[in-house]
Amino acid sequence: MVRISSFGVGGKHKSTKFALYCVGLFGLALLVDLLWASSNSSPSIYQSIVSQENVVFPSFAQIKEEDKKKKDGIDKKRVLADNFADLDAPVLNWEKMANAPVPRLDGAAIQIKDQLFVFAGYGTIDYVHSHVDIYNFTDNTWGGRFDMPKEMAHSHLGMVTDGRYIYIVTGQYGPQCRGPTAQTFTLDTVTKKWRDLPPLPVPRYAPATQLWRGRLHVMGGSRENRHTPGTEHWSIAVKDGKALEKEWRSEIPIPRGGPHRACIVYNDRLYVIGGQEGDFMAKPGSPIFKCSRRNEIVFGDVYMLDDDMKWTSLPPMPKPDSHIEFAWAFVNKNSVVIVGGTTEKHPETKKMTLIGEIFHFEFDTQKWSVIGKLPYRVKTTLVGFWKGWLYFTSGQRDKGPEDPSPRKVLGETWRTKLEL
Ligand SMILES: *[C@@H]1O[C@H](CO)[C@@H](O)[C@H](O)[C@H]1NC(C)=O
Repeated sequence: MVRISSFGVGGKHKSTKFALYCVGLFGLALLVDLLWASSNSSPSIYQSIVSQENVVFPSFAQIKEEDKKKKDGIDKKRVLADNFADLDAPVLNWEKMANAPVPRLDGAAIQIKDQLFVFAGYGTIDYVHSHVDIYNFTDNTWGGRFDMPKEMAHSHLGMVTDGRYIYIVTGQYGPQCRGPTAQTFTLDTVTKKWRDLPPLPVPRYAPATQLWRGRLHVMGGSRENRHTPGTEHWSIAVKDGKALEKEWRSEIPIPRGGPHRACIVYNDRLYVIGGQEGDFMAKPGSPIFKCSRRNEIVFGDVYMLDDDMKWTSLPPMPKPDSHIEFAWAFVNKNSVVIVGGTTEKHPETKKMTLIGEIFHFEFDTQKWSVIGKLPYRVKTTLVGFWKGWLYFTSGQRDKGPEDPSPRKVLGETWRTKLEL
């Protein structure tokens, strides 16, 4: 869904005509281009020079639906500044722990008991990791490094565990904004043995991934060009790290596609939270697949898949939030916290905006709250919860308290005592 308000157009015109909308959008796009070009004098990782082709035109059908929604009053007017700004949040006491062996952006992590298995990720935009590091929450040390299979993607992985086996689905192969692979694997975390699973029917970037009712579910993500949201949903029966079927089967598509969402099973229901439509993509013709920025729409939607295999919309997050696929943890039996992420771009500078809050969602009441501040805003951080301590490690942090745009890729590890 394209939100007209995110372009600053249409807010004052209740019945925008299509042609007018397009002209306005195009003009604004050029302006935005200029702003980006002039504001990005020192582009950091993932913030590269923007070219003319960075604007995605919404389809006519999308606009019509948007208009309809507005008339129906469903699309509550959102004030850009509200989503961009930090939210009031309690201050927490943070303790700095041992740094991860390497810094990581877009890494992946899975907690099994007192261990956090941390996979892959970018070290820099031109270098990706192809190994696993393990953090032990009992003695608070890093160790246990071992290699990933050579064919496994290095970022934008879908990943989930049954408590012993980790299922690792598709993702981006290589640095910058390279193409994806459909290759899919399992890891036995006891023996450290890898195994192949049938490849996903087509590759995806950062699809929502979960185990549900004996099946590995994979949905959404970005399509093969890294930018276009996919809405397809597949599943395959699995047990003990092996596929019980030869092929993936198609399931009900997700209402809204796109990458970088939290995907959680609670009380036999499957939830998909936050994410975005659109992402950086390779500059056409670039031999190194240089990342170039495209329009992104971050959202805070929450969808639940129930017994009848029907999607239901639940109350949205306190603000749009993306890059949170490995930034969540259960803190007690019936609630999760989501740590940091990215939200809507800055309304004036158009720079990517990071989140420095922790959100809490109670499944039974379906209530969201903001429960604390992080030491800094951070995206694609990797989260675990052990014996009352909330941990986060790695990711990309902000430029400083006054500037929420992304800068340094980190290996820092922090924890705070959390009582909810
Ligand atoms: C984590 O560290 C503790 C204390 O050194 C150790 O007893 C435990 O076995 C470690 N966990 C794993 C899974 O290796």
